Amino acid sequence: PKITYVSHDGRAATVEVPVGENVMHGALYNGVEGIAGECGGAPSCATCHCYIDEAWAATVGGPANDVEKELLEAAACEVKPTSRLSCQITVTDDLDGLIVHLPETQF
Ligand code: FES
Repeated sequence: PKITYVSHDGRAATVEVPVGENVMHGALYNGVEGIAGECGGAPSCATCHCYIDEAWAATVGGPANDVEKELLEAAACEVKPTSRLSCQITVTDDLDGLIVHLPETQF
């Protein structure tokens, strides 16, 4: 599936991410800047914060769950209703075309 990562200043990078991987690794393994993923997806860091494109909110499983919400309190940038931890989103064929927006900074 192809995932498009859009930086805070509007630069878009579309990369192929294997099914079973997560959206955080999809950025890291393809050199997409804007996601840090310091904890490796434990999850315990919130440096993989992203904003799911509105059109994809339901397909990725809805808003952040309680564990994500708690960690997002430590996120560097504003937390919005579309905020998710990208390491908690597993890539499936249904996510082909997914668009995620990246915050200005993870720290
Ligand atoms: Fe640390 Fe997602 S990579 S919470």
